[in-house]
Amino acid sequence: MKTHQAINLEDMRELAQRSLPRIAFDFIDGGVDDERCLQRNREAFARHRLLPRYLRDVGQRDQTVKLLGRTYASPIGISPTGLAGLWRPDADLIQAAAAREADVPFLLSSASNCALEEAVAIAPDHVWFQMYCTADENINADLVRRAIRANVGVLVVSVDVPVNANRERNRRNGFSRPFRMTPGVVMDALKHPGWVLRYLRTGGVPMMRNWEPYAPKGASAAQVADLYGTLTPAPMVDWNHLRRIRDAWKGPLVIKGILHPEDACIAARLGANALVVSNHGGRQLDAAPASLEALPAIHDAVGEQIELILDSGIRRGSDAVIARCLGAHACLFGRPVLYAVAAAGRVGVAHVLQIMRNEVDMVLAQIGCARYESLNSGYLWQESAHFSHAVAPVSEMRGIHLSVALASEAQ
Ligand SMILES: Cc1cc2nc3c(=O)[nH]c(=O)nc-3n(C[C@H](O)[C@H](O)[C@H](O)COP(=O)(O)O)c2cc1C
Repeated sequence: MKTHQAINLEDMRELAQRSLPRIAFDFIDGGVDDERCLQRNREAFARHRLLPRYLRDVGQRDQTVKLLGRTYASPIGISPTGLAGLWRPDADLIQAAAAREADVPFLLSSASNCALEEAVAIAPDHVWFQMYCTADENINADLVRRAIRANVGVLVVSVDVPVNANRERNRRNGFSRPFRMTPGVVMDALKHPGWVLRYLRTGGVPMMRNWEPYAPKGASAAQVADLYGTLTPAPMVDWNHLRRIRDAWKGPLVIKGILHPEDACIAARLGANALVVSNHGGRQLDAAPASLEALPAIHDAVGEQIELILDSGIRRGSDAVIARCLGAHACLFGRPVLYAVAAAGRVGVAHVLQIMRNEVDMVLAQIGCARYESLNSGYLWQESAHFSHAVAPVSEMRGIHLSVALASEAQ
């Protein structure tokens, strides 16, 4: 199968599996413990059905979304993922360029291999910068200052990694930080010569460029990775750290990794502008709810005070449609973009973004909703509802002009 023959995200996953050594593929693909949360993220979408409305004009469809004061072409952006340079050199810059072309946000991880300044230079209107609070307040403050100096449009703070998680695939495969080429890894890698050549040609372990300034001058990539490992995760981080970041950063602030409605309310009171409802793609707490399961209560709690973005398990256009019906303004996806970057670089990323765009467009047409932003819970099938509350009996409708009836249900 060639890249252009990938007709869905699962095909792209297969392509990535073929092009990456197992240790690398598993690092991307895996979850925590028994990977139940990973599975739950998909099952949560499968439990919903969309109830189509017909005979509505869907000749022109619009999937643009307004997020944090800017309009994007499509509701599915790219989640932040660290160490992407391991899957292909310049993976972060490739994603930034593809996001700019597709006009969707790309959340650059602070654990990226390019510096935040480089990514912003490529896609100034599309790169959001994601950081974790570290154990060192001076570094936190410096990261915020650098984001301000680089003219980053949106700052994202991820809060769902208090400690490292038990990712058993990584432990079995011997994935350690810094990344080391053991004999087993080398044997498997040899079956993927394209990846090996690229890895060796670019000097092996890629540098975590955002952290280079905090390491001694001349530190190797491995030493910088070790430093990063001592600074994060930082289990002592609390809302006070977030407050200090809110004070220092005047632009749009997003908190990523919220699942509890009370945390959502605290974030809103603290002045966050958006939340990413996320369980980190099922990579942190196996007993956590699916992000989609957590969304309705968060939406009920914060209403329209704060914008809601959802990630974890988005694999189909219909997932983004369902998420919107349950209160999300937009969505992000992580692994599929990494599969694409690993399998086919920029062409691959452009391809998965286009697949999702096409799928959202088709689903909007199928359900009779011409605008993504007009989606609401009325498009969801509800087993227990008999629609009596929503629809006037036919006998009553006869007396009214059809146009009035339709206008009253306007999308
Ligand atoms: C390989 C990998 C690395 C990740 N690194 C980060 C990171 O640096 N920062 C962060 O906030 N989330 C990180 N995440 C979580 C993603 O941002 C996102 O929440 C998750 O991938 C969404 O789920 P999905 O992969 O099912 O779409 C990472 C996820 C993966 C798969």
